[in-house]
Amino acid sequence: MPGHCVLRAEDVVKTFHRGLPPRRRRIDVLAGASLMVCRGELVGLVGENGSGKSTLMQILVGLLKRDGGEVWHEGRMGYCPQQPMVWDKLTVDEHFELFAHAYRMDDTARERAVGALLAELQFERYRGYRVEELSGGTRQKLNLALALMHDPAVLLLDEPYSGFDWETYVRFWDMSERRRNAGMGILIVSHMLTERGRLDRVYELGAGKAVEG
Ligand SMILES: Nc1ncnc2c1ncn2[C@@H]1O[C@H](COP(=O)(O)OP(=O)(O)OP(=O)(O)O)[C@@H](O)[C@H]1O
Ligand SMILES: [Mg+2]
Repeated sequence: MPGHCVLRAEDVVKTFHRGLPPRRRRIDVLAGASLMVCRGELVGLVGENGSGKSTLMQILVGLLKRDGGEVWHEGRMGYCPQQPMVWDKLTVDEHFELFAHAYRMDDTARERAVGALLAELQFERYRGYRVEELSGGTRQKLNLALALMHDPAVLLLDEPYSGFDWETYVRFWDMSERRRNAGMGILIVSHMLTERGRLDRVYELGAGKAVEG
């Protein structure tokens, strides 16, 4: 039974403008999108390419300004973007240090969290590697670990498993379910119908609105 809500969006509106006048075009992406995620829920966000899933997620985390509507969340937030936000010249460990600083974690808390995530995602041996030396899947593991290391109350995952091999993919879903069962509220962009059974609820984004189905 899900607990109270940890993330809510109401009537979110977003329009992009492209090109210069007189050929300036407006692209209405979100036209009153609403959704909510409660404690202990694993909620899917689906929709065609270009339907606005990543735009909505960026608005939910506060990386992108909305043109209308309200967004609210409770507790710490973790965000795993579609394009990993990592730096080629920094090592895996340096990323953990940087993010731990941003999350205001002390050394003990960081080492405990990082040790557990490196073991869970099985990439301990890459701690000293620079990102430019990592495979795509390992980069994605780092992207996910960075979103999880501060044990957020709300977790937003934008296609976090692209590039994962099958074993990692299965482990990823186990990790998500374990965290959901421990009370985390998770919103995940997902394309694969086979994942439907793992999700508590699904929102479909179309014509700028999110419809639960
Ligand atoms: N910074 C931007 N400037 C202009 N248009 C943008 C910008 N970001 C996104 N868009 C447009 O907004 C629409 C929604 O893009 P978005 O990336 O949110 O879709 P998506 O549902 O995440 O797609 P995908 O499944 O391919 O990841 C697209 O038409 C895209 O071209
Ligand atoms: Mg996207």
